[in-house]
Amino acid sequence: MKITLSVIKADVGSIGGHIAPSRRLVETVAQHVGRNGPPLVIDTQISHTGDDIAILMTHRQGAGDPGIHKLAWDAFLAGTAVAKEQGLYGAGQDLLRDAFSGNVKGMGPAVAELEFEERPNEPFLFFAADKTDPGAFNLPLYLAFADPMNTPGLILSPNISKGFRFVIMDVNHTEGDRVIELVAPEQSYDIATLLRDSERYVVESIWSRATGDQAVAVATSRLHNIAGKYTGKDDPVMLVRVQMNFPATGEILAPYSIGHFVAGGMRGSHQMPLMPVPLNTGISYFDGPPIVSCAALAEHQGKLTEPLDCFAHPFWNTVRDRVAGKAIEMRRQGFFGAAMLPMSELEYTGIVEELGSLDKRFVVRPERSGRA
Ligand code: 13P
Ligand code: 13P
Ligand code: MG
Ligand code: MG
Repeated sequence: MKITLSVIKADVGSIGGHIAPSRRLVETVAQHVGRNGPPLVIDTQISHTGDDIAILMTHRQGAGDPGIHKLAWDAFLAGTAVAKEQGLYGAGQDLLRDAFSGNVKGMGPAVAELEFEERPNEPFLFFAADKTDPGAFNLPLYLAFADPMNTPGLILSPNISKGFRFVIMDVNHTEGDRVIELVAPEQSYDIATLLRDSERYVVESIWSRATGDQAVAVATSRLHNIAGKYTGKDDPVMLVRVQMNFPATGEILAPYSIGHFVAGGMRGSHQMPLMPVPLNTGISYFDGPPIVSCAALAEHQGKLTEPLDCFAHPFWNTVRDRVAGKAIEMRRQGFFGAAMLPMSELEYTGIVEELGSLDKRFVVRPERSGRA
């Protein structure tokens, strides 16, 4: 019988601005899932990345299951009550609907789910990012699944070399899920053409062409599309199955050494480099820099091992130093040019309204007619 991995995450409040949830808040969410999860949920792990709490669950209900989604929703509601009690900032920030209606999609929390027939061994990675959006995963996923310069498995391993199918979503389309399917390597230039615009085109899932199995699930929700206004960044989660017919763990992790610039940081409105950090890390400099954490796990019949902390390894200290340097360098130019997101992506409507009123004050200077 198939196993489903579901990770549902939300920001329901944090200490001292958008830094990190309180210990009591995380414990409350964990207790709710622990008490009400079984027998539906086989195993669960709770963690936080910046101010976002993620509930990782294993079960046999398949993706989009109302019982699983309601469990997470109710856990975040219980957390919100504690956040209010403790005076945390942004209590209930990502819970955008008053009542639960079947599925957390479109209600604020981010969700990524993978359903599969279990392999004899089942290693996978759970990524969570804060102060950025799902497009942050475009570059690392492109490199890991379509570029042999990053992933030697694409030329070394017969099954991996059959390539991967990318399902890419147009997240600007609010009336429904607008998606395109493209295969690597044949259509890798088309994939690149879309993925370079990481604010609009976002990898939703990746599938093995050798076996048809799903390798990757990314949460693609856009909070400001749901709420119609700025409510926080769309801090994404992602699940990646690794090894055998999929890239190796090291091939999936390697691209995070780049510290590529992503949308995020202060007020969800800047370009900042993505810093790989240990599990349960908070936020600091300029409400950033945007961070990504990664837990490596193994799973058997729904039972999870303890998580290994991929970015806690000493190797990443050098990367972090370099990313901090890039972040400081970019911040030197404040709101000018590439430092701030383009108008269409700014999450604050104030500046748009101000521009509207300034626009009325422009005058077109009359052309001089002839010489006196
Ligand atoms: P091991 O020989 O340690 O199993 O590693 C195989 C591998 O592919 C690592 O990338
Ligand atoms: P969160 O989306 O993580 O709550 O951050 C909001 C923000 O932009 C802080 O500057
Ligand atoms: Mg927040
Ligand atoms: Mg957040």
